[in-house]
Amino acid sequence: MKNIKPDHIAIIMDGNGRWACGQKRIRRYGHEQGALTAKNIVKIVSSNKIKHLTLYAFSSENWGRPTQEVKLLMKLFVETLENEIDELNSNNVKMRFIGDRENLSKKLQDKMQNAEKITIDNTGLNLYVALAYGARWDILNAIKGVITGVKEGKLDKQEIDENILSSYLQLGDAPDPDLLIRTGGEKRISNFLLWNIAYTELFFCDCLWPEFNEKEFSNALNFYSKRKRRFGSSV
Ligand code: FPP
Repeated sequence: MKNIKPDHIAIIMDGNGRWACGQKRIRRYGHEQGALTAKNIVKIVSSNKIKHLTLYAFSSENWGRPTQEVKLLMKLFVETLENEIDELNSNNVKMRFIGDRENLSKKLQDKMQNAEKITIDNTGLNLYVALAYGARWDILNAIKGVITGVKEGKLDKQEIDENILSSYLQLGDAPDPDLLIRTGGEKRISNFLLWNIAYTELFFCDCLWPEFNEKEFSNALNFYSKRKRRFGSSV
């Protein structure tokens, strides 16, 4: 069976720095343009009536970037949330953050919590933003959750299966991504949603994230529509 449209798209937004360098500008400019692209893509995905979108905004490994760049990214996340939350809310977007919030600033954590709270009853696009996220952390965290569940008598050890472990993951209540898009030319997964993408279709493009637009997005959808998904079976 050919696929018409993905239900869940996940995106690794890569190439902000290289794009800025190509424009003879500093990396900050690339990240700012990247945030505008993210805004545009949320609109496009929403208007295509796709139900779930997960954006990889900051990985666990990104903490290893120069302090100045980490600082400016954090500032950009706070500002983007401040500036965009009302419009997202009025567009019926339900927002959730996935990742390890512990090391994020109190200010950013508060903004994230507030965004989740005010959009909780929205019924349009489910927008998941991965911030300080790493899939290995996610899986480990889920395993710890399962162990606690067993210890507290809420889970029977014999009943633990893939579905139960999945339900403890950060995206436990979302369907697995149907399509993963990575911009920026690299063909790797970079510790993103490792468990969830077991059967996801992968679309890699050379275009740098700030220049990803409706045309590139429709190329990805077109690629997806031609894939024959067998989920490991032969038919
Ligand atoms: C990759 O570019 C992008 C990031 C490190 C994440 C930052 C993403 C944004 C600012 C987009 C905004 C998203 C939201 C949800 C506000 P890079 O620095 O790795 O580029 P390079 O590979 O060219 O150096």
